[in-house]
Amino acid sequence: MKTNRIVIAILLIVASFITTSAKALYKDAKQPIERRVENLLSQMTLEEKIGQLNQISYYEDAKFFEEIKSQVGIGQIGSLLNMNTADRVNAVQKQAMEKSRLGIPLLIARDIIHGYKTIFPIPLGQAATFDADIVEQGARIAAIEASSDGIRWKFSPMVDISRDPRWGRIAESAGEDVHLAEVMGSAMVRGYQGKNYSDPTSIAACTKHFFGYGAAEGGRDYNSTNIPMRQMHNVYLAPFEEACKDGSLTYMSSFNDNDGIPASGNKYTLTDVLRGMWGFKGFVVSDWNSIGEMVTHGFAADEKEAAMKAINAGLDMEMVTGSYVKYLKELISEGKVDINTVDNAVKNVLRVKFQLGLFENPYVVTPQTVKYSAVNLEVARKAAVESTILLKNDNEVLPLHSNVKRVLLTGPLANTPFEQMGTWTFDGDKAKTVSILKGLQDKYGKDIEITFEPGLAYSRDKSTDGITKAVEAAKNVDLIIAAVGEEAILSGEAHCMADLNLVGAQSQLIEELSKTGKPLVLIVMAGRPLTIGEQVAQSSAVLYSFHPGTMGGAALADILMGKEVPSGKTPVTFPKMVGQIPIYYSHNNSGRPATRKETLINDIPVEAGQTSLGCTSFMLDAGFDPLFPFGYGLSYGKFEYANLALDKTDYGVNDIINVTATLTNSGNREGTEVAQLYVQDKVGSIIRPVKELKSFQRVTLKQGESRQITFALPVSELAFYGIDMKKTVELGDFNLWVGGSSEARMSKEFRVKTNQ
Ligand code: GLC
Repeated sequence: MKTNRIVIAILLIVASFITTSAKALYKDAKQPIERRVENLLSQMTLEEKIGQLNQISYYEDAKFFEEIKSQVGIGQIGSLLNMNTADRVNAVQKQAMEKSRLGIPLLIARDIIHGYKTIFPIPLGQAATFDADIVEQGARIAAIEASSDGIRWKFSPMVDISRDPRWGRIAESAGEDVHLAEVMGSAMVRGYQGKNYSDPTSIAACTKHFFGYGAAEGGRDYNSTNIPMRQMHNVYLAPFEEACKDGSLTYMSSFNDNDGIPASGNKYTLTDVLRGMWGFKGFVVSDWNSIGEMVTHGFAADEKEAAMKAINAGLDMEMVTGSYVKYLKELISEGKVDINTVDNAVKNVLRVKFQLGLFENPYVVTPQTVKYSAVNLEVARKAAVESTILLKNDNEVLPLHSNVKRVLLTGPLANTPFEQMGTWTFDGDKAKTVSILKGLQDKYGKDIEITFEPGLAYSRDKSTDGITKAVEAAKNVDLIIAAVGEEAILSGEAHCMADLNLVGAQSQLIEELSKTGKPLVLIVMAGRPLTIGEQVAQSSAVLYSFHPGTMGGAALADILMGKEVPSGKTPVTFPKMVGQIPIYYSHNNSGRPATRKETLINDIPVEAGQTSLGCTSFMLDAGFDPLFPFGYGLSYGKFEYANLALDKTDYGVNDIINVTATLTNSGNREGTEVAQLYVQDKVGSIIRPVKELKSFQRVTLKQGESRQITFALPVSELAFYGIDMKKTVELGDFNLWVGGSSEARMSKEFRVKTNQ
């Protein structure tokens, strides 16, 4: 009898040991992640599951902090947005790890769009570098800096294709081109997440805004989009698919509806495409209250229906609305939401938390000293150099010649540390920003005498009193540098413009300065391409630096003085006037393409005959061409292309097209060129664009140096979704160009002949 009792006792101890160790399996980092996910999920209550799908935005307040802590203690919160101090994060993580029943760490998130403390050029400026490596370096630095404040998830990269500069968020994008957006988005994903996701400086990327947000009708933010299926897959989804291949751990749904379906309730894209076609295993977070806004859209009668439509469409985590916490339990009991749907969403969130190593490392380990380190600032300066586009340089007025001793620096953007950082800069410190004035004074104050007369107090300033003083000062100098453009607030979310001319009295300032007859160097800082044709004509040289970030002024000073050579290329087409929008290089040919020899409005004879002007696709008052095409940018070197050759003329679908060309720097200084390769599929089951960028490379050549450059383009890169909505390479004839912009002329033809 006694033996039995001992045996039973031993069995009970063993059983409880097995149960305990089974229960604790999810805490064992040696276990496979999927086993840990399943083990943890099996122990969670429905409330705890729903809590993981709930993201709250934090604001600093002692009472609110206590409230957050108590909700964390009962597992009601899965993620916090906008908590960004190490002590607060450590405190809430301690509450989650030690007080909550299962000890599930929080995922701390922040909008870090182009740098955390060290601010890099806005993403549109980073795209102008055509340099994936510098962009990846910047993303890595942002991740390291952010992790020192406990942030392990950032809402970037934004890969919305944007062909409408009226839209304020073009500033956050990589511009108009699919391939460039793919390259830039993937570089950021790699930079943020690093090679080892569980490294304490690895930050989960959040590729956004899924999807089509940049096609907002009229360039007005949050407006509807009407993207048909093939264009959806061939253009707007492509950079998101690329980010998935590069392992983006999360996505964010967008505010817009497409063809009447809000992205946060679109089952086709959130589930059929993202998971079914692309095999995505991470999780999707809604944009700010975008679930609740489905009621405003008229897609849901109330928040309960919005919660149902969102979770059933495949929207995993809810940002700030709170409808999941309020209604999911009820919806499950009413049979409107299946518990398996909730379980899948929770598994997606837990999987990312395990991948980030948060269960093992929930607390901050990165030292505060990483912020604004000399290395970080130098990478930011280099990125700002490469993001600057030389649009004009008459008589090689730049770099400044040795006989230029006295310079007037003027314009409302010449000494504006805050504006220079650009949109979505929550954590950058303007006191750390090097403005153009500071950049010139610090490094070149002994070489040139700088007179600073802003002319205008800020970009929208309409008072012209300061212009007189600037023009007066211009009389005593050898050359004028005028920095104009946009304050940061004029671009970014909800900041759309119907007119892209310079705001305030900036045009008058430039006009008055040009009348002085002194060489005028124009620098433009903006969140978008502006219609600056008049000012370009009035200037000898033009540098476009978008909003170049913390080290922008140092970079511009180095370019002006010749220490650095500009190499940026336009990541988006610059329209002559707003009426040309949308205008982008990879357009369809139409049945009546412009000849570019059309009679324009000032040359039309009075009583001209109805069809005398020809019937082609152009604008009477603007012609066809933009102010500057996509991929355009000058350098201090002069680059010439020759000897374009392909290794074959006929290819199979599995071949590589080997392309060679000779690039020569015939200028009188070393320079860097972005050599670009474009392709046209001449005939398809659906019409294909007149040109598509398929590859690019940065090439640095010494004065007089020639080099053979090579491209290896897999024929598979020519695949697209055709008439049958299948992604294939269609046999037929192609054109191929290599050159320094989307207006490249040097071309060859080839054929894809076989399906091998
Ligand atoms: C904003 C933006 C999104 C951002 C989010 C969190 O409205 O649309 O890009 O990440 O809300 O701040």
